[in-house]
Amino acid sequence: MLAMDDLRAKFEAAGQGHVFRWWDELGDRARRRLTRQLEAVDLERLPELQAAIDALQSPAARNLSPAPTFGLADEDFPYLLNDAARALAPRGEKLLREGRVAVLLVAGGQGTRLGFDGPKGCFPVMPLSGMTLFEVFARKLRRAGRDFGRVPPLYVMVGNHNEAATRNFWEDHDWFGLQPEDVQFFAQGEMPALDAHGKLVMAQKDELFTGPDGHGGVLRALHVKGMLADMRNRGIRTISYLQVDNLQTPVVDPAFIGLHLDEGAEVSLKVVRKHEPGERVGIYCLDDGVPGIVEYSEFSEQQASERDGQGRLKYWQGSIAVHLFEVDFLNRLIDRGTDLPLHAAHKKVPHLNEQGEPVEPTQPNAFKFERFVFDTIPMAGNVMCLEVPRDEQFLPVKNADGPYGPEGVKQSYQDYFAKAVEIALGKKPTAIEVDPW
Ligand code: UD1
Repeated sequence: MLAMDDLRAKFEAAGQGHVFRWWDELGDRARRRLTRQLEAVDLERLPELQAAIDALQSPAARNLSPAPTFGLADEDFPYLLNDAARALAPRGEKLLREGRVAVLLVAGGQGTRLGFDGPKGCFPVMPLSGMTLFEVFARKLRRAGRDFGRVPPLYVMVGNHNEAATRNFWEDHDWFGLQPEDVQFFAQGEMPALDAHGKLVMAQKDELFTGPDGHGGVLRALHVKGMLADMRNRGIRTISYLQVDNLQTPVVDPAFIGLHLDEGAEVSLKVVRKHEPGERVGIYCLDDGVPGIVEYSEFSEQQASERDGQGRLKYWQGSIAVHLFEVDFLNRLIDRGTDLPLHAAHKKVPHLNEQGEPVEPTQPNAFKFERFVFDTIPMAGNVMCLEVPRDEQFLPVKNADGPYGPEGVKQSYQDYFAKAVEIALGKKPTAIEVDPW
């Protein structure tokens, strides 16, 4: 049998023969393109996708309880570090001075909610200069270089859809003053989508619909793209993991790293106190006694609203998606062939209908699949969680408007620094921006 017939037979046996619906109309190039894509689909894993849909539709009951959390700062602005933090910071500083810390920035999302046409990192976020998120991170890294004598190497995870645009942006801006060899981009993997009948969604007659495989794709991508090997060559021990959308996060935090080392943690995370039960942040808690993050979309309304004896939210630890990972731990997961679980989400996915006409759905019509990096937490030997002050460290640009839209973020950013100036000088500036460098 020809290889092509083989491929077709496999898809038909898996109930996915429709992907060849337009085969006869396709030219040679289009056929090659489709074949290449189909060869990369692991049909044996379709049941895993279906299981993720089932879990979304009828979530399993979970035995949750609150998880222990450290605090290292005053509860009030300017959040001075307490004695414990001052004692721990030198350990983190030492690791930074030795060049054993790398920064990993995940920037492979599609930024759909923000509605910005381009990589989110290229978004002009600063209130006065219009500096972009990428430049903010680069300048913070240069600042770390000034403070600790070494600029931590930067690894940026991108998606296939924004890889070229991201690389060009950094190149056009001379890597924002960083050394080009210390900035590496690598693309995460892709996942197909399934429609309501469990069929692979076609984007074109010669193309399956695929989307980024979630920031959990970082585990495999770090390995496959040689980034873990690069880290090993550079002697990196600990990874400071950040999301590109968070304007206020430090790129490295000596006290956080110090506590992580002191606790012998393989993964650490930062949380803030949730504003209100419905806030869209993952919750750090214990599931059957095992630490982990339950994503907001998978947390029941009733559980999110539970309160303790003092009327405070029982599950208050909102993850700001800032982590530390031990490189040895990630290597161990890779060596064991660990795959992080898939999470399904019901989304609007543009596709071709049976007549081959393009459809832009107005309602969710298909399931997309992602892996979440925080699903490594239950696999870690030791986990440390640190509460940090919200306005000091968490200001993500998520949406087109509202508090986490561009205007809301610029306002909160200015409020924070204006407060600092007012305390120092007794007068509040009407507008302010602070160079992250
Ligand atoms: C995320 C977290 C949530 C946390 C919140 C804090 C998830 C699933 N949830 O929510 O627990 O409380 O941030 O702000 O992450 N990304 C990729 N590749 C992908 C998908 C996303 O690199 O395939 C990157 C994005 O570029 C972004 C980050 O991951 O930097 C967050 O993704 P997003 O989908 O916006 O997560 P949230 O729903 O905001």
